[in-house]
Amino acid sequence: MTKPTKAISINTGGGDAPGLNAVIQSVVYAASHLGWKVYGIREGYDGLLFPDRYPDGGLVELNPDGVEGIGRMGGTILGSTNRGNPFRALEKAPDGTLREVDKSDLVIEAFRKHGIDSHIAVGGDGSLTIALELHRKGLHVVGVPKTIDNDLRSTVATFGFSSAVSFATECIDRLHTTAQAHRRIMVVEVMGRYAGWIALHCGIAGEADAILIPEIPYDIQKVAEALKKKICVVQPYAIVVVAEGAKTAGGDVTVKSREPGRVERLGGIGDIVAKELGSLTGYEARAVVLGHLLRGGSPNAMDRILGLGFGAAAINALKEGKDGVMVALNPPRIEYVPLEQAVSGIKTVPFDGDLVTAARALNISFGD
Ligand code: F6P
Repeated sequence: MTKPTKAISINTGGGDAPGLNAVIQSVVYAASHLGWKVYGIREGYDGLLFPDRYPDGGLVELNPDGVEGIGRMGGTILGSTNRGNPFRALEKAPDGTLREVDKSDLVIEAFRKHGIDSHIAVGGDGSLTIALELHRKGLHVVGVPKTIDNDLRSTVATFGFSSAVSFATECIDRLHTTAQAHRRIMVVEVMGRYAGWIALHCGIAGEADAILIPEIPYDIQKVAEALKKKICVVQPYAIVVVAEGAKTAGGDVTVKSREPGRVERLGGIGDIVAKELGSLTGYEARAVVLGHLLRGGSPNAMDRILGLGFGAAAINALKEGKDGVMVALNPPRIEYVPLEQAVSGIKTVPFDGDLVTAARALNISFGD
């Protein structure tokens, strides 16, 4: 009697992060050793819900030849979406307005129709929460943590973060010279949503003078005072790194837009801080928003290794019959944690953590 072929699927959801293709490559290679078929779902779960939108029907069989060399590429060969929650799919109502509809049963049905036994969901807290809800409806799921923000609980690191920090640091290095030439305050806004990991890491590595993060509400007067003390003949300029979710004590995050079916878009705090510091210090100030540049480009070595390791571990989890878990880095091991635990809240920068302490020792102001 021949053993039935196991068919699994993989998708990538939410904002892309360098290292996604490394996960896909590793999953496909590891599955092929077991004789399993791997299907890639286009753009979150949209490939299953709206097959007509895609020339290949939204579901593509992935084999080792097809993923050769993708591990070093940025983005995701499957595409991604951060509007793709099947539990809250957007539909036009007869009056033309958008309404949310639960299409999760259709997704479960599509998995069944295509004979897919198990699914690997690669995503951040939003995508992994969707995966958990699908798991509760009976789908066999293993999650893989992804986000440049590094804000996922239960894993020491997510791939994409290291590449984002390296690039942001390189940008800050460049800003030092132009800031010095013009005796300016350069304010660098970085992504990170409600966590300050990217800002903290690139701010320390890039020798910033102030770092403003969501976890430590700032007082702009205190930031201005700190900068005035630091700006001198030897260093006639200053660099301020601002996380997009930074806020003043009692204040709220700065939001670009709020749209139905998606989480609020943060952004704009860099301009506000630059304007205020300009008038409080008397120095010219400029803001630079690194934004999506932090998500673009090739993964660095660290993120490739993390992505490749996570992909192989996800297949291992399925082989061992694990279900409803997320692979997680707990050095030196990759372990498995329940999805419930992984999405139970976000990982933020501890107020009194070692890196914050180190930054203070380096005379970096948090504006508190
Ligand atoms: O979660 C990753 C992230 O890059 C956040 O840092 C940022 O706020 C958000 O995605 C931006 O997403 P979008 O692609 O919708 O602009």
